[in-house]
Amino acid sequence: MGSTIGGPSLKGVRLRKMFGDGASQRAALREVSIDLFPGQLALLMGPSGSGKSTLLAILSGLLRPDGGQVLTRPEGATSYLDVWSLPDRAREDFRRRHTGFIFQGYNLFPALTASQQIEIVLKWGNNLASRDAKRQAHEMLDRLGLLNQRHKKPAAMSGGEKQRVAIGRALAKNPMFLFADEPTSALDWENGQSVIRLLRDAAHGRGATILVVSHDQRMLPYVDVNYHLDDGRLEEQEVPLVATGSAGGV
Ligand SMILES: Nc1ncnc2c1ncn2[C@@H]1O[C@H](COP(=O)(O)OP(=O)(O)OP(=O)(O)O)[C@@H](O)[C@H]1O
Ligand SMILES: [Mg+2]
Repeated sequence: MGSTIGGPSLKGVRLRKMFGDGASQRAALREVSIDLFPGQLALLMGPSGSGKSTLLAILSGLLRPDGGQVLTRPEGATSYLDVWSLPDRAREDFRRRHTGFIFQGYNLFPALTASQQIEIVLKWGNNLASRDAKRQAHEMLDRLGLLNQRHKKPAAMSGGEKQRVAIGRALAKNPMFLFADEPTSALDWENGQSVIRLLRDAAHGRGATILVVSHDQRMLPYVDVNYHLDDGRLEEQEVPLVATGSAGGV
């Protein structure tokens, strides 16, 4: 797990992002560089407004930076490609095939049931037949404790249920890169822990590269690396070593 052999799978290089114009212009990211590795669960912390969601959006190909590069090697390719130099269509294809995103506001489709939210990405993202998509969606909902809620639409779900469906939707694709923006904010600690375990399994079990934004200090023992963002500047912080062997370099 968390092996750094073979080099990073995703690199942010001197990323800059400004918002606003003229006197009201302010920097959301100031020359942020970050290396993420296959099999690594990375945590990003920092105060509100420090640039965490902005960094996730840039690294995942959703938001164009004002400066710097996002370099990636999907499927273990030997050379890096620069995500923000790709034509829009190729970047969209990279996102669809290789990335999963759990949004801070869930972003569920209002007209679809819990099961359909997941089925749709399996059908369109992974080209599964309807029956297989449904079976896998139900398996994922079961792991998240939501199988008996599968017919519900978002308006009838609690915040925590919506959040778990959004997590299931991102994980079901088995993406190589997974970005999660406060994925446990609406969950009690028991459900939060099971989500962290799912994320860790995806990293350590099948080598996904995962970056999670969270304010929850209880997540620290489960992660391999911890970054802190403050006013658009990033630094790496120590991860406490714990007896479970889940943190640090096991
Ligand atoms: N679309 C936008 N237009 C203008 N300013 C923006 C925009 N998006 C973000 N910002 C500003 O950029 C800064 C960083 O925002 P960002 O959403 O990345 O913070 P964050 O660390 O995710 O905060 P939170 O913990 O509250 O989610 C903030 O000052 C925010 O107001
Ligand atoms: Mg945010």
